[in-house]
Amino acid sequence: MPAITYELIKTCAQTGARLGRVHTPHGVIDTPTFMPVGTQATVKGISPEELKSLNAQIILSNTYHLFVRPGHELVRAAGGLHKMMNWDRPILTDSGGFQVFSLAQMRKITEEGVTFRSHLNGDKLFLSPEVATSVQNALGPDIMMAFDECPPYPAEYAYVKQSTERTSRWAERCLKAHARPHDQGLFAIVQGGMHKDLRAQSAADLTSLDFPGYAIGGLSVGESKEIMYEVLDHTVPLLPSNKPRYLMGVGSPDALVEGSIRGVDMFDCVLPTRIARNGTLMTSEGRVVVKNAKYAEDFGPLDPKCDCYACRNYSRAYVRHLIRADEMFGLRLTTIHNLHFLVNLMSQVRQAIRDDRLGDFRDEFFEAYGMATN
Ligand code: GUN
Ligand code: ZN
Repeated sequence: MPAITYELIKTCAQTGARLGRVHTPHGVIDTPTFMPVGTQATVKGISPEELKSLNAQIILSNTYHLFVRPGHELVRAAGGLHKMMNWDRPILTDSGGFQVFSLAQMRKITEEGVTFRSHLNGDKLFLSPEVATSVQNALGPDIMMAFDECPPYPAEYAYVKQSTERTSRWAERCLKAHARPHDQGLFAIVQGGMHKDLRAQSAADLTSLDFPGYAIGGLSVGESKEIMYEVLDHTVPLLPSNKPRYLMGVGSPDALVEGSIRGVDMFDCVLPTRIARNGTLMTSEGRVVVKNAKYAEDFGPLDPKCDCYACRNYSRAYVRHLIRADEMFGLRLTTIHNLHFLVNLMSQVRQAIRDDRLGDFRDEFFEAYGMATN
């Protein structure tokens, strides 16, 4: 039995959305799902108990960050990521193939791997398919990601082509280096930029190797939403229907709904937690910048339609005061609310698939949330 399996429950009759379950060594994930991001082996400010009480079923962490600090050997000595951070539900780690391009300094890419300097102290480090795989074997997530290159946008066709071909060769090396296929699933990442032929080649290369799941990378890198949806329309049908599909780095509410409609099962993004820490809420009526003066005497909940811990107990006026006074509880409350908002949105998406009405749900949701601001 492979570490990760996908069970399709049903497909929405109104859209292509899939209701399913991903089975992992640490339990089941109902899909489509949103994964909160815990870059440094913690979802900033939020305890595992709080994550559970807002119904998060899986969280994401980052190979790049944990490799740079505290080091994967320390995490291994602590008993692995689950034990170290006291989270007993599924974990997915990204491979570092994205962060090394967005964070590290003085990168040099060769066929062998990427040499770079740590963004923390300038130390010279090296990541490759083999290193990223053995680091993730040491961290011990349920799902690990192949080491890829996410090309910038825009980029020359010739560059994207050679980068995408290398990502396929790297994926095969990851598969060979993977030491724990019995209890960790390694997902491949389809690249190819905004080019349909390169996406098709990437999907063909990677699906010819038997990965337990497939991600779509290289999106939400500055292209318009229309282009992203076009690439999804073209790419998702090239992926096997008996494996989970994961759209990386996408988490605006409209894109979660549109991605689900196109057959994506898993999403992650720092957006809800990042904007929470600058005082912005995702609510049933769209974004609310709770820091603004107009909420100074608003004694209603953060979101009138929300039943999260923050909304059940605290007002916009109080949270605004906390944030202005630099009290960390304020940012914990906005973070709890925003994560609950997206986790709950996905549970509504799953119900709409069950009821064969995700198209109607999309129209109702966009009407209330407004598409311009997300
Ligand atoms: N996170 C968002 N996009 C990407 C991607 O293309 N590759 C990886 N590894 N992580 C991502
Ligand atoms: Zn709330």
